[in-house]
Amino acid sequence: MDIARTPSTPDGNPYLADAAPEPKAPPEIRREDYAPFPWLIPATRLEFELGLETTRVTATLEIERNPDADRSPTIRLNGDGLSLVELHCDEEPCTGHMMDGDDLIVTLEGDNHVLRIVTEIDPGANSQLMGLYASNGMLCTQCEAEGFRRITFFPDRPDVLSVYTVRMDAPEEQFPVLLSNGNRTGTGKDKGGMHWAVWHDPWPKPSYLFALVAGDLVAREDCFTTMSGKDVDLAIWVRKDDLPRTAHAMESLKRSMTWDEETFGREYDLDVFNIVAVGDFNMGAMENKGLNVFNTKYVLADEETATDGDFDAIEGVIGHEYFHNWSGNRITCRDWFQLSLKEGFTVLRDQLFSQDMHSEAVKRIEDVRVLRSVQFPEDSGPLAHPIRPDSYREISNFYTSTIYNKGAEVIRMMRSMAGPERFRKGTDLYFERHDGEAATCEDFVRAIEEGAELDLDHFRLWYSQAGTPRVKVALTHEGDTASLALSQEVPPTPGQSEKRPMPIPLRIALFDRATGKSEGEELVMLDSAETTLRFDGFAEKPVLSINRGFTAPVRIEREIVREDLAFLARNDDDPFARSEAMQDLVVGHLLEAADGSPAEGASEAIAGALGEILKDDAIDDLMRGELMMLPGVTYLMDQVLLADPGRIFAAREALKADLGTRLEKELEALHERASAVPFSHDPEAKGARKVGTMALTYLAASDPQRAADLAAAQYDSADNMTDRQGALMVLSGIDSAARSDRLLDFYDRFEGNALVIDKWFSLQASSLHPDVIEHVKTLADHPDFTLRNPNRARSLYMAFTGTPQGFHAASGEGYRMIADLILELDPINAQTAARFVPALGRWRRIEEGRAALMREQLQRIADAPKLSRDTYEQVTRSLG
Ligand code: PHE
Ligand code: ZN
Repeated sequence: MDIARTPSTPDGNPYLADAAPEPKAPPEIRREDYAPFPWLIPATRLEFELGLETTRVTATLEIERNPDADRSPTIRLNGDGLSLVELHCDEEPCTGHMMDGDDLIVTLEGDNHVLRIVTEIDPGANSQLMGLYASNGMLCTQCEAEGFRRITFFPDRPDVLSVYTVRMDAPEEQFPVLLSNGNRTGTGKDKGGMHWAVWHDPWPKPSYLFALVAGDLVAREDCFTTMSGKDVDLAIWVRKDDLPRTAHAMESLKRSMTWDEETFGREYDLDVFNIVAVGDFNMGAMENKGLNVFNTKYVLADEETATDGDFDAIEGVIGHEYFHNWSGNRITCRDWFQLSLKEGFTVLRDQLFSQDMHSEAVKRIEDVRVLRSVQFPEDSGPLAHPIRPDSYREISNFYTSTIYNKGAEVIRMMRSMAGPERFRKGTDLYFERHDGEAATCEDFVRAIEEGAELDLDHFRLWYSQAGTPRVKVALTHEGDTASLALSQEVPPTPGQSEKRPMPIPLRIALFDRATGKSEGEELVMLDSAETTLRFDGFAEKPVLSINRGFTAPVRIEREIVREDLAFLARNDDDPFARSEAMQDLVVGHLLEAADGSPAEGASEAIAGALGEILKDDAIDDLMRGELMMLPGVTYLMDQVLLADPGRIFAAREALKADLGTRLEKELEALHERASAVPFSHDPEAKGARKVGTMALTYLAASDPQRAADLAAAQYDSADNMTDRQGALMVLSGIDSAARSDRLLDFYDRFEGNALVIDKWFSLQASSLHPDVIEHVKTLADHPDFTLRNPNRARSLYMAFTGTPQGFHAASGEGYRMIADLILELDPINAQTAARFVPALGRWRRIEEGRAALMREQLQRIADAPKLSRDTYEQVTRSLG
């Protein structure tokens, strides 16, 4: 029983009669309760009579007993808010049925039946954006994880695979384009301006991969010939005005298809591949079989409206969804506890793809930055869970950075231990062995174990234990021998107080102080609580570089002096390790400074290292930009037990100002050099844009007026969104006339382009400006602001949760604003509302005063009547 929800009275007697009835906690679903579904559904036919206000759905299910499951006298068909219009069994009106909550239960005697179910839905009223909904006059679906049950009654679970045939009837003028999964097998016109299309998907799939789109769309078309010589018609469907912004997405798709053939031996398996961009979408994109549906944010780009970061993100997400065709669709998940089976693996695949398309080191640094600033805090807070969770109340809450990013890291470790060639043998075996199945994480591990010839027995702990391991590292030296002492501790997490030591692969190198060189690197395993490794042949104590390339998702606590970090920041030949050394140098200083006791000489040492980075010809600008980037406030907050966001923010700003002053000339020169590089998508030009704006961020702290002038000039002469947005980002933190001028100009220039107006909101809401709270309040009343569009809601409020001086204002006002938002958004779009809860859930790791204010807001949300399952679960877990 959930103690927190037990009704209680002042005298503690929970059974007193007139205690107000508390809302019931939604049931907990447990992994260990898995049982196969008693029925198979070999074929599903769906007929849609489409309309924005009323859509009628006729589902015809061929069902038969599942020989591998217990016999059941009934079949449970999930529903969510559906009303049943008609129900036929084997062509006869059915009487033996009942409702259990939202589910439909039909009593069935024999072994084979045909069920025909008619439901009616109102897509126009669907603000949750799950199931069939309307977006800008078009109709589209989102079914993962449990949206299909909002369309028709069905066993809406990923292990029930069926072959779908879909017919759509719709008014042609309103919905000229009708798409679904698979191949189009028929089309025609009817009287009254109606038309229809039939689509057939030959690959059996779970209901969460079903999709349908109807709308007034145009396509960028192309063609791809697969490795075995089959032609695939490619199309990216968008609204007419957006067509010119689809070229990059199409190129990304073709590159993804080639890469998956070359790197994983995976070939596409249908005659067509369609992508549709929709403006209202809860997530980034969705891998529906043969019909991927994307948030416009991850499709549309040209240099005027999208930044270099947007271009890269589009390539990554297009790749991700495409790669799901094998890791997710051909092999799907047995149940939602196995979500990381498809997501962790597919994230790894998209990361490797992007590494191959661009700079491997820069991509790795970026990916690790995301892991540390989002997943590490999650893993050390109240919402921590293993990459294969044991229970949930609402599965939408488990599309987390842990499932996705830590899941990818865990598989990456297997790859590091096996090496790429043997790892490939493992994935080949996995794809071959489980093709067409709904598999488990255990199936994956076993295939890698056999195919890659690894012993992963102990390694499986990474699937069951939550929490980021801490690895203590100490290097000592005596005579000719260097000794490396390693020990680990996995911190307790909710529901897991005792932890076992995990196998941790660490790539290391030892550097000779005199030559600045190492003898090469090796992979060592820490697979017990502690171990000591000896290295001979070192007359002098070497400098240790550890967890190179971030082989393991752990926190390294190394005893290392500042001089050695500075040495690595200069000399390490692994660019990732070099950036780590620089980060550690800065983090060490900032935490001391926030504590009020900065070590003497620390900022000189940092300025020295940064100065070297600015002038080092051996690195390109893309890498230089990474090395120049200071650790973010969220990451810094996660480094201490009880963080004071105000002090951390102040220390970080002070260091920026100090570096800006010390390196003023170099930074100005860098900005000037960068500004002279003409626009192109080449890495050199991209790098120049990155370091140019980065230089401005330092100058903005040391000499705001000068920085404002430079930023205004950069804005005015910008011929691309990267420079323009970078300039505006800097300006939005500085009180100046240039700030308001350029913000107005930006709005006027891009009014009507939703994605760019999202940037306009988010630049202001994430700014360093002291009045950011007031700005956000004003923006919330802007005529272009709406909570009904998730991108817009996030552009204002998600951006705001990252501001130390706004969200974490000592008054608690920022917390109250986010709680208000959650309460207002919850009835409109529960999934999106619940995603704001983790920001408040960090309270345990924040200084007392703010922690109390955060808790108070969580409690206020928890006390609200009629919370969604999504928000209820996140809030109660966060209160702990
Ligand atoms: N499965 C999608 C992806 O990872 C994410 C998603 C989940 C989209 C749930 C919509 C709803 O690519
Ligand atoms: Zn995915």
